[in-house]
Amino acid sequence: MGIKKEIEKRKTFAIISHPDAGKTTLTEKLLLYSGAIQIAGAVKSNKIKKTATSDFMEIERQRGISVSTSVLSFNYKGYIINLLDTPGHKDFAEDTYRTLTAVDSVILVIDSVKGVEEQTRKLMEVCRMRNYPVIVFINKLDREGKEPIELLDEIEKELNIKVRPLTWPVGMGSRFKGVYNIYKSTFNFFKSGKTVVEEEVTTFKDLSDPDIDKAIGHNEAVALRDDIELIDTIYENFKLESYLNGDIAPVFFGSAVNNFGVKELLDTFVEIAPCPGPREATCGLVEPSTEKFSGFVFKIHANIDPRHRDRIAFFRVCSGKFERNKFYHHVRLGRDIKFPNPANFMAQDKSIIEEAFPGDVIGLYDSGIFKIGDTLTEGEAFMYKGVPRFSPEHFCEVQNTDPFKSKQLEKGLMQLTDEGLAQLFLQNPGNRRILGVVGTLQFDVIKYRLLHEFGANCKFSPINGYKAVWVKFKNPKDIEDLTTYRYHSLFYDKNNNLVFIPESKFILQLAKEKNPQAEFLENMEHNDETLELEAS
Ligand code: G4P
Repeated sequence: MGIKKEIEKRKTFAIISHPDAGKTTLTEKLLLYSGAIQIAGAVKSNKIKKTATSDFMEIERQRGISVSTSVLSFNYKGYIINLLDTPGHKDFAEDTYRTLTAVDSVILVIDSVKGVEEQTRKLMEVCRMRNYPVIVFINKLDREGKEPIELLDEIEKELNIKVRPLTWPVGMGSRFKGVYNIYKSTFNFFKSGKTVVEEEVTTFKDLSDPDIDKAIGHNEAVALRDDIELIDTIYENFKLESYLNGDIAPVFFGSAVNNFGVKELLDTFVEIAPCPGPREATCGLVEPSTEKFSGFVFKIHANIDPRHRDRIAFFRVCSGKFERNKFYHHVRLGRDIKFPNPANFMAQDKSIIEEAFPGDVIGLYDSGIFKIGDTLTEGEAFMYKGVPRFSPEHFCEVQNTDPFKSKQLEKGLMQLTDEGLAQLFLQNPGNRRILGVVGTLQFDVIKYRLLHEFGANCKFSPINGYKAVWVKFKNPKDIEDLTTYRYHSLFYDKNNNLVFIPESKFILQLAKEKNPQAEFLENMEHNDETLELEAS
């Protein structure tokens, strides 16, 4: 089969939601429909429950599970669907943002009782920045929630995206009758059932069909007609192009735990969701159908088995065909490397693959050669762009408590920060090492892993920092004020970029005013330093 055909068969996406909206449940139901799993309950939640902040074993266990569920590939109606899982806990949001760089579209799950929540907002901001096509699934219609119109309004206002309902619910909670498919004139009757995968769907002539009254009750049918009339006047008609451009999000209603509305969602998803498209690299846009293979690492995970120190680098194929045991060019290292055991992740099983195509995510065994954002090519020297590195907001100074283990600590810090668990900032003279994270739970995980995987004992002392900002300058004179008066807050990141960690927003503002020639950046891309090398 030609590469174009392979690309057209693939849909790579992520489900995003605020914790507890039903992402794990929906994932499981999608797998049930596709036949990838046979029983409900097979997919375990990888979220770390909010209460378990100091339960290290729980963190480890959960982390282990999230390795095997990082990517779930399944077949449905002739398509190969790659679903990239994202951690639910907000302290690991950075991991989620990075995973979002490897998808082509998203499904956003919203709890009908709670509406738009904090994490929903943040995740959607990332998707809006990239203009990803979004499908919205409003979940938990089996409970008394907000009015559907109110929810749509909230989504439009708070998430800055236009919506277009494709289905419409009749009732909710105990009065929930089912959903009407506006474009297909079908009614999907609600039946609660946690393991049943059939849906009872009746087709009507159109909305005026008197059979609707018989099927769902006269009053409900009248209300449905009024609602649809209202929707048609408020919302633009659904246009595929507007969805693909990220301008309009089609909306579905359902109840994931009851398997309700999920098939409709999946059927529409495979029909409209985009196949892998071109991606931005330092050499310009790279088309997926380009003959030469290329792709990038968006996530690195330690092996769950502590006896094996190797890691798995999750790699998104962006162009051409990947082949097992063929030499590829590691652009940052300038070395050619082959991979004898590349893995894919069909539902719950990991298996060795011979080849992979654009849109696929493969696991590459990594003995420490990869960093997030690394690009592999067939020899060309370009890097994929857009893998973000966020400004950490919590900082700790690392102090070695066992002088005989300083090498182990060094190695552990390097590896864990390569994985993207935290960012490391160094200060010389003084040999100060500062770890910066987005969520404080990451500190617990790092400390635990330093001890258990590397045998390194250390102390973390919190330091006062507002955020880390990268300082770009052309001439040392541009940052004279900073180096004279703020030297105690200046560090270098692992790539030797200058980083300023001011104690407060006020001090940051002051520094900006006193050093007007310098640029203060809150977010960096993983490949920024490589870009600079190329430019110089
Ligand atoms: P998350 O991954 O987004 O964090 O959410 P998850 O799927 O774990 O779902 C969170 C809770 O919401 C779970 O309940 C789940 O059963 C429930 N849920 C999911 N979909 C629906 C739905 O359509 N209707 C209703 N009423 N509940 C739903 P839990 O009590 O936290 O866990 P569990 O004991 O049920 O597994």
